[in-house]
Amino acid sequence: MNNKIKVIRTKKSKIQDVDFNNFSFGSIFTDHMFECDFINGKWVNPTIKPYQPISIEPSASVLHYGQAIFEGMKAYKDENNEVWLFRPDQNFERINKSAVRMAIPEFPRELFFEALTKLVEIDSDWVKYGEGRSMYIRPFIIGNEYAIQAVPSKNYKFMIICAPATLYYTKKLKVLVADKYSRAASGGVGYAKAAGNYAGQFYPTNLAKEQGFDQVVWTDSNEHSYLEEAGTMNIFFRINNTLITAPTTDTILDGVTRKSIIQIAKDNGINVEVKKLKVEELKNAANNRTLKEIFGAGTAAVVSQIKTFQHKSELFELDEQNDSYAEKLKSILVGIQTNKLVDKHGWRYKV
Ligand SMILES: Cc1ncc(COP(=O)(O)O)c(C=O)c1O
Repeated sequence: MNNKIKVIRTKKSKIQDVDFNNFSFGSIFTDHMFECDFINGKWVNPTIKPYQPISIEPSASVLHYGQAIFEGMKAYKDENNEVWLFRPDQNFERINKSAVRMAIPEFPRELFFEALTKLVEIDSDWVKYGEGRSMYIRPFIIGNEYAIQAVPSKNYKFMIICAPATLYYTKKLKVLVADKYSRAASGGVGYAKAAGNYAGQFYPTNLAKEQGFDQVVWTDSNEHSYLEEAGTMNIFFRINNTLITAPTTDTILDGVTRKSIIQIAKDNGINVEVKKLKVEELKNAANNRTLKEIFGAGTAAVVSQIKTFQHKSELFELDEQNDSYAEKLKSILVGIQTNKLVDKHGWRYKV
């Protein structure tokens, strides 16, 4: 493997054209991107270059058989202008876990970190300091063999692109608990960050949005009885003073935010139970007012509180909590990510 990354810098940055106080997340990209091809059994030609279109043939395997996986992570800036990543080793491990499941060759650790840090460093002016501000980083791999044969691609493209980010959901959410559609099935690819998992969610999520919901809370595909996760977030329930979240099975994405929240909660004396929770148990807890909070946790949304949920035709609304666990855990998590709080688990990674 030729590990030396070639760097071609843009002649003119686009940053002056961006209004960082007013943009829509995911639609503006930074000046540079990383690209590396898998050809003849090797990852070759690692290059950082100006963000630009890529050229692939119409027969490229990703366009037909959907061999596509991705990651989502963020870079944060502290008040001294230093840039930090949060647990990037977890994203590295997860992209390769996704790769194995989708019959994609794994990407080498050293090159992943070299590419990631070099790209973030080059585009570090795009990482802004301030509440909710960060730069979203999207590594991804696509099958890129030019042949319409239903077999794993021989060639692939690994890329990293970056986008400035601000707060994702700013209001409390209203969610619909799935009782017909499923996101993932046992034995399937739900635990992988495979592009098709998201395509499959769009239609049922649109139906829910038409009814005024922000997101769907997915349940198990066998009986629709157990709560799994929500949109692009893992989900937590506070019943009395215990925080409950589903175990990560093969139908649930093993979220970096989820595992960090569990650890922070434990560090702060909050009782956490990782267990399967039934929709019925949730409804009972809502009816007897022991259900205090529900929130989603994920890189893009950080921690998003859920105020209202509906299952079939029953609607439940949660009361405001003075001692919100969601708020407390979010502020500690963000404090660690942005170098404001002590990082006792060694999660921050300096660029
Ligand atoms: C389906 C799904 N669940 C959960 C998460 C949260 O994972 P993380 O905290 O690693 O962003 C994401 C986002 O990546 C996701 O797409």
